[in-house]
Amino acid sequence: MSTVLAPRTPAITTKLPAVGTTIFTVMSALAAEKGAVNLGQGFPDFGCDPKLLEDVTAAMAAGHNQYPPMPGILPLREAIAAKINALYGHSYSAASEITVTAGATQAIITAILAVVRPGDEVIVLEPCYDSYVPNIDLAGGTVVRVSLTPGTFRPDFDKIAAALTPKTRAIIVNTPHNPSATVWTEAEMRKLEELLAPTDVLVISDEVYEHMVYDGGQHQSAARFPGLAARSFIVSSFGKTYHVTGWKVGYVAAPESLMTEFRKVHQFNVFTVNTPMQHALAHFMANPAPYLDLPAFYQRKRDLFAAGLAKTRFKLLSSGGTYFQCVDISDVSDLGEADFCQWLTREIGVAAIPLSAFYGDGFDQRVVRFCFAKKDETLMSALDRLSKL
Ligand SMILES: Cc1ncc(COP(=O)(O)O)c(C=O)c1O
Repeated sequence: MSTVLAPRTPAITTKLPAVGTTIFTVMSALAAEKGAVNLGQGFPDFGCDPKLLEDVTAAMAAGHNQYPPMPGILPLREAIAAKINALYGHSYSAASEITVTAGATQAIITAILAVVRPGDEVIVLEPCYDSYVPNIDLAGGTVVRVSLTPGTFRPDFDKIAAALTPKTRAIIVNTPHNPSATVWTEAEMRKLEELLAPTDVLVISDEVYEHMVYDGGQHQSAARFPGLAARSFIVSSFGKTYHVTGWKVGYVAAPESLMTEFRKVHQFNVFTVNTPMQHALAHFMANPAPYLDLPAFYQRKRDLFAAGLAKTRFKLLSSGGTYFQCVDISDVSDLGEADFCQWLTREIGVAAIPLSAFYGDGFDQRVVRFCFAKKDETLMSALDRLSKL
């Protein structure tokens, strides 16, 4: 008689030992538990344009419910290519140089998996969005952390130059920048272009906040700079632009040779992105007003929020782009950033995110990030609570 073995889950060794529950999940859960106003996680608490919803419903009713083409439906890729050309003056082929992705998150990991081999070095500029480092780890690459200048968060090109080695495969750049809300200048992009010109280093340019630049400033897409466009995967997200973060639809633009490799990975990690949303987005993009009007829409919210914060002892850092406002907490509290955010959520009833969460070594500069992509009443309620500080 054969012995029946008890069911047993084989032990595995984690591939990502440093990864736990993200700070965004932790803070959102705490905010919900304490009934705090959640200015932590970066998502709007208001709806999208009803026309966009009508377009999705119409696409579903018209039967657009089966697999779309692997790189995305052609009308959407054409609309993306036309937008990039109109705004940044670079012409991408909709057929071979644009791919629709499941948000920017899948775009970034797909680009990394497509080009990074074990032993390759990838430069990240800290503080940085939390998916970059685990993505590089999964590809077997070596993460090379270069700090943006504390206080100003400007790129330090001497430090970036010093980090370049023959093993550098790519650098990840993010402008407008989460979490600092800074925007790279034209001169900084040119500097990057010059620095990389003699190298074979690729750029992953995370531009998800491309339509959120304030005070008359301009988004400096890598697409504007021929030397960068030729070596870049440019990533954007409809979730950010159209207030639909839960749809998880974004895109990548890259020269054909890079896109060919990108699509090899894309077709086996996601294959396609949901069809009715793509039809709706293609239709909705025909009118550029929603993204061209976005800076004015968010700048008003930024100013409303900043005016309220100015009455507290927080020191405001400049917010030139994104939907984030960072503040220096040193005149308000002696706590470190993470403890302060916990305290603020529990005692004052407003959730924020510590900047230390965006650094590998937890660097604490007494700065926390608020998200102002919220209804005016949500911002006013947060300000009312923060006025006690
Ligand atoms: C800098 C940055 N990159 C990428 C993403 C992910 O975008 P998506 O929701 O389209 O995956 C975010 C979302 O917060 C972000 O802030």
